[in-house]
Amino acid sequence: MEVKEIKKDIFWVGAVDWTVRDFHGYSTYRGTTYNSYLMLDDKKVLFDTVKKNMKGELIHRIRSVIDPGEIDYIVVNHVEMDHSGSLPEIIELVQPEKVICSQMGKKALLDHFHREDWPYHVAGPGESVSVGNRTITFLETRMLHWPDSMFSYIPEEKLLISSDAFGEHLASTERFDDEIDQSVLMHEAAKYYANILTLYSPLVKKLLKKVGEMGIEIDMIAPDHGIIWRKDPGKILDAYSRWCVHEGTNKALVIYDTMWHSTEMMAKAVADGIESQGVSVKLLDLRVNHRSDVMTEVLDAKAVALGCPTLNNGLLPRMAGFLMYMRGLRPTNKFGVAFGSYGWSGEAVKLMNKAMEEMKFDMIDPGLRVKYVPDHSHLKECIELGRKLGKAVKNSL
Ligand code: FEO
Repeated sequence: MEVKEIKKDIFWVGAVDWTVRDFHGYSTYRGTTYNSYLMLDDKKVLFDTVKKNMKGELIHRIRSVIDPGEIDYIVVNHVEMDHSGSLPEIIELVQPEKVICSQMGKKALLDHFHREDWPYHVAGPGESVSVGNRTITFLETRMLHWPDSMFSYIPEEKLLISSDAFGEHLASTERFDDEIDQSVLMHEAAKYYANILTLYSPLVKKLLKKVGEMGIEIDMIAPDHGIIWRKDPGKILDAYSRWCVHEGTNKALVIYDTMWHSTEMMAKAVADGIESQGVSVKLLDLRVNHRSDVMTEVLDAKAVALGCPTLNNGLLPRMAGFLMYMRGLRPTNKFGVAFGSYGWSGEAVKLMNKAMEEMKFDMIDPGLRVKYVPDHSHLKECIELGRKLGKAVKNSL
């Protein structure tokens, strides 16, 4: 794949990872890209690098524009290894005048690479650096999603190089939003938000407000993963403004695991009850749905029903793992209920309730337990539980 000029004398020189399928627990069925950008001005600037094993692609693409030794500044917007893994070799090759990073970025670089001798330039929040005809303004975005994270904004180009924000794990030969199927693009952008940024939603909200107040003009957003927003950057900004408040839609999820199909029978009855209230419902069996896909569905759901039988006084491992993952990401603003079959002790419903209460879900019922196998009357209770949840969704919209 060739270098792509995204603006006059600004090039995408990153790498496309067609084969990665797991990103620390997030399933990346469509691969990803590690975007790196090269800006030519009086000073030549490289923004971020790529994963260590893909440095050859980066160097090849830089070489097709300039000799890497001509690069003056390397900007490290984010230290996570998918963007900095090849930094030591690139610094060795380039011998840059400056390695520009945030204050926390310098600390993180030292903790990763233990190189006191690199020519660090710590960019303060809002600091601008002139590179000739253009300037780069560094916007601190601490905890979005690491302490070191920052954006680089080039006002003369109305270009925001946004690190992980506004990206997707999506490998493609296309580089721009107007070249790609919109449903795929928005699905992957939502999945990215749901699995990386949900926890930091209050900070996303603050950042969007601050950017609005600063009156920053943006006509292109170039993230570190996936597609560059050149036709409609407003589309992803609007989506983030909805996602960051965990806005629920007319949608409920029944997320479950099952041992001998009793909890599955209950799950289907709960879903029937939800559907009877005119609410869209999805049944998500954790045996066949990856946790990161389930989290993508949670992003815009207004209600979650969790179902699991009791195993060894606890939860089945898949539900326990999912709850650990979801609690870490902390979605809010949902209605919740729990249900499940049991044989003798029956702790599962209590444990699922506790997890949802910790996430401050609005628990609309103490939950439903059925001993061993549900009969007709139990399934009617499940339908009633679903109706109650569906009504709560309807009344909230
Ligand atoms: Fe794409 Fe947080 O690294």
